[in-house]
Amino acid sequence: MPDVLAFNKREQIDCSVNARVNSFGAVAGNEAMENDVPLAQIEFRSVTKTDGPVAAVKDLSLSVRRGEFLTILGPSGSGKTTTLMLLTGFESPNYGDILIAGKSVAAVPSYRRDQGIVFQSYALSPHLNVRRNLEFPLEMRGMRAVERTARVDSILARVHLDGLGDRMPSQLSGGQQQRVALARALIADPPILLLDEPLGALDRNLREQTQTEIKSLHKEFGITTVCVTHDQDEALTLSDRIVVMRAGRIEQTNTPEAIYDRPATQFVAKFLGEANILENPGFTIKSEAAQRPGTVAMIRPERICIATLDAPKRIDAEQYQSVTRIVDNMIYAGPLRKYHVRIGSTVLVVSEHVASGRRALQPADGARLEWLRSDIRFVAAQAP
Ligand SMILES: Nc1ncnc2c1ncn2[C@@H]1O[C@H](COP(=O)(O)OP(=O)(O)OP(=O)(O)O)[C@@H](O)[C@H]1O
Ligand SMILES: [Mg+2]
Repeated sequence: MPDVLAFNKREQIDCSVNARVNSFGAVAGNEAMENDVPLAQIEFRSVTKTDGPVAAVKDLSLSVRRGEFLTILGPSGSGKTTTLMLLTGFESPNYGDILIAGKSVAAVPSYRRDQGIVFQSYALSPHLNVRRNLEFPLEMRGMRAVERTARVDSILARVHLDGLGDRMPSQLSGGQQQRVALARALIADPPILLLDEPLGALDRNLREQTQTEIKSLHKEFGITTVCVTHDQDEALTLSDRIVVMRAGRIEQTNTPEAIYDRPATQFVAKFLGEANILENPGFTIKSEAAQRPGTVAMIRPERICIATLDAPKRIDAEQYQSVTRIVDNMIYAGPLRKYHVRIGSTVLVVSEHVASGRRALQPADGARLEWLRSDIRFVAAQAP
């Protein structure tokens, strides 16, 4: 039952957020923010948000740079939406402070924070056509009708929806509605864009198209963007930096490449991509780095080469480690084959591009597995 109550409460919050976004869209800004221009556009300082016994966000410190695309990635319930809500002002921290452009926004109400916001549920006003939906935030700013029309026409063209201004939201596809929501968030040219699972309701192809669209809009507008998602592909594709959250805390913050290639913890390694944790493999793991206490060895599936036992050894034993085992299973996954091979207590996943030209191995075949010692990573078994 507590979960249901929590869910209902969140639903109410989301509804009120949507209502406010409908009313204000990207609203007029806080003049105080326009003066000095610090490098960090957004700063969380030791922010905690509790709701009864639950701490949705715990002692969170984070900086978002001007013009950066930062993605908050994490599993359900890890505190992503709460973090975004704290930034919009629809939730307030119990402890800590949030700064925008170097100034605390503790006393700035949500409608005075100059932010464009997009939610998974589009949040378009159903009774207004596309043009009116887009015009509303401009009207709130007191812009003249002739300028509003020009700006709406221009943004509609920019998101490839020219000619659809007279349609009602219900007459648009999910992808088109999401593009209108994006256009509405950007139309008043706010310095900050906040996206909560913006592509969650779209099918895979549309998601990829809209990802590309968001990326190019971000580049064009140079807008500081915070995006919340639980989708690792979205995070890898869109972000300058990714923050991985777990149970209300930040587990790691870095560029997509650095997080994927050098995950700090076992949780991050498994959450972003597939990870083989080599626990009790039955042989000594050779690596270039020394293993620190409290860490486990990890290798990505694509870093392991798999070959038949009679294939010529192409490798330099100094740089590589090699073991022979029996293939448990082979799974065809479009451009990839995935093999399962048992090593000690671990079932190792090995991925191989079909285009590699190598003959597919079958279950019960003998296989030689080889990997570069430098591809072994030691990751913290637990969060610090
Ligand atoms: N208003 C609220 N009332 C009660 N509990 C809440 C409220 N908001 C969030 N929580 C709890 O705080 C935690 C974080 O929730 P949050 O919605 O931020 O997670 P999330 O990472 O966005 O998850 P999802 O991916 O499912 O959207 C959860 O345990 C949630 O149940
Ligand atoms: Mg959420």
